[in-house]
Amino acid sequence: MAHATTNMQTRGRTVRVWDIAVRVFHWSLVAVVGLAFLTEDARTFHEVVGYAAVALVGFRLIWGLIGTRHARFSSFVPSPRRFVAYMRDMKERREKRYLGHNPAGGAMVVALLITLSLVGVTGYYAAAQGISGLRWVGEVHEAFVNILVGLIGLHIAGVVLASFRHSENLVIAMITGQKEVDDDHPDQ
Ligand code: HEM
Ligand code: HEM
Repeated sequence: MAHATTNMQTRGRTVRVWDIAVRVFHWSLVAVVGLAFLTEDARTFHEVVGYAAVALVGFRLIWGLIGTRHARFSSFVPSPRRFVAYMRDMKERREKRYLGHNPAGGAMVVALLITLSLVGVTGYYAAAQGISGLRWVGEVHEAFVNILVGLIGLHIAGVVLASFRHSENLVIAMITGQKEVDDDHPDQ
């Protein structure tokens, strides 16, 4: 039977969790957001990679509606109640393992997609400020970039923490798409 803390024992079979679109989306996003950070002074290049990030987010919004099971928002966006319950379980070190995004990861996906959109929109207006005269928009763009940096830090910390807590490598899972099923909890 299942052992709550050593559930490796009930795992073995692997299944595809992250489809090819989610994986290509993720690592392309990491690349273009990284390039946007590095090229803030090369304005044209910065704008091009910034728009590429926005395009990827647009694609992900559509894929969240029509994509495969674990890619769909309906499968991982938590209600506030579920999110709070999961955070409490984390504090008490008894949070469950999930095959797809856990409730904290699901909330982080939403936060990242919204913040990236706001960075993109304010970037557009910052680039157009010569015409619009809205000089402060650049500052707002930078403020959202700072929020994005904070979220990315939390995101990576969450991935590392969840990997240790459930004895699995989530980074490799986001590369191969494969995760081991816990046969006692096949839907988690
Ligand atoms: C620019 C930085 C990053 C951004 C904007 C970002 C964004 C995202 C997004 C939007 C997702 C949701 C994937 C989906 O369902 O489509 C995600 C998941 C994930 N990301 Fe990142 N990510 C970043 C950096 C990283 C890095 C550096 C790593 C590796 C350490 C990483 C590892 C993962 C993993 C393992 C997942 C799946 C989490 C899970 O199993 O629930 N990410 N990321
Ligand atoms: C994920 C996407 C993006 C990221 C991570 C990002 C990041 C940054 C960073 C780090 C800066 C420098 C802030 C500073 O000087 O402290 C910046 C500035 C700027 N970005 Fe972006 N950016 C993104 C998208 C865009 C887009 C789509 C555009 C326009 C089409 C854009 C236009 C600008 C402009 C015009 C500035 C200068 C603002 C000013 O100095 O007033 N960015 N961005």
